[in-house]
Amino acid sequence: MDSHTDADRPRFVTIKRIVIETPSIRTFIFDDAMCSAAKPGQFSMIWVPGADEVPMSLSLPYRVGNCAITVKDWGPATNKMCRMSRGEKFGIRGPYGKSFTISKGEVLAIGGGTGMAPLMLLFRLLLQRNSRINLVIGAKTSSELLFFGRAKRLFQGSGSLVISTTDDGSSGYKGLATDAARYVLEKKRITMIYACGPELMMKKAFLLGEEFGVSCQMSLERPMKCGLGLCGSCVIGNYLLCTEGPVLSSSRLRQVSEELGQLTRDKTGKMVPIQSKA
Ligand SMILES: Cc1cc2nc3c(=O)[nH]c(=O)nc-3n(C[C@H](O)[C@H](O)[C@H](O)COP(=O)(O)OP(=O)(O)OC[C@H]3O[C@@H](n4cnc5c(N)ncnc54)[C@H](O)[C@@H]3O)c2cc1C
Ligand code: FES
Repeated sequence: MDSHTDADRPRFVTIKRIVIETPSIRTFIFDDAMCSAAKPGQFSMIWVPGADEVPMSLSLPYRVGNCAITVKDWGPATNKMCRMSRGEKFGIRGPYGKSFTISKGEVLAIGGGTGMAPLMLLFRLLLQRNSRINLVIGAKTSSELLFFGRAKRLFQGSGSLVISTTDDGSSGYKGLATDAARYVLEKKRITMIYACGPELMMKKAFLLGEEFGVSCQMSLERPMKCGLGLCGSCVIGNYLLCTEGPVLSSSRLRQVSEELGQLTRDKTGKMVPIQSKA
């Protein structure tokens, strides 16, 4: 029996526009009917010709109807991607994976680095459902704060707020995103914590959720090869992140908490300590 869906069919897409977001992060805008219907938190497998196929979250496009991915220049595939120009093509499969679910009321969102990409898509939906968002964006330094101005514009008139934190104090609060998150949890009645970013940050956010008795949804990263639940490279605890994640909620996060923020796998499947994101 052929269990493939249209989403599994590899397509070529053309880069329509590139936005330089920070010195190391770019957003690529393209058209793809399947991915424009993606839910927040879902990802696509991006084939960078001559390099590799890597997972990327669907980000918030600058225009309704377009699709976007927001890429950090990191290793071979992302380095090659970040050197591509308007009009060039790359391959795409998906969207794949479980999305965030929408929570009503007042929510806390914590984003670090390109973890802001799936959160931006989530915010559009949360605002459409009249949720109020307390967003904490963390970065090492002000030039690496992703989507700060864009989130502020998106939140205008909604009663939502954006707090920035930087390790060096060059913008917003000096310190960790999770320190500002604790302040929000102490002051407000939060119904859900959403987080995406470096895994040590997510581990701390998860522990805050446990301490304050607030449910969490977090989008995790593990190496992905097939994206289809076949190869096992994306395993965490008993879960395959490509099909059962990448978004896990508190009950599942509890089950994987020993690995969370501590251990991942390398490309051979060997367990290795997690490095923090640059
Ligand atoms: C569901 C999902 C969604 C993702 N969404 C995005 C996204 O929106 N934008 C984005 O830029 N990336 C995203 N990633 C991460 C991205 O897939 C990897 O950064 C990518 O595989 C890097 O490929 P590469 O060839 O450039 O580097 P690789 O050769 O894969 O990596 C080189 C080395 O750096 C380490 N490494 C790579 N990326 C990271 C990282 N992000 N943090 C810490 N260590 C890393 C690897 O372990 C390896 O040791 C996502 C990953 C997953 C699983
Ligand atoms: S990436 Fe192959 S099983 Fe998840």
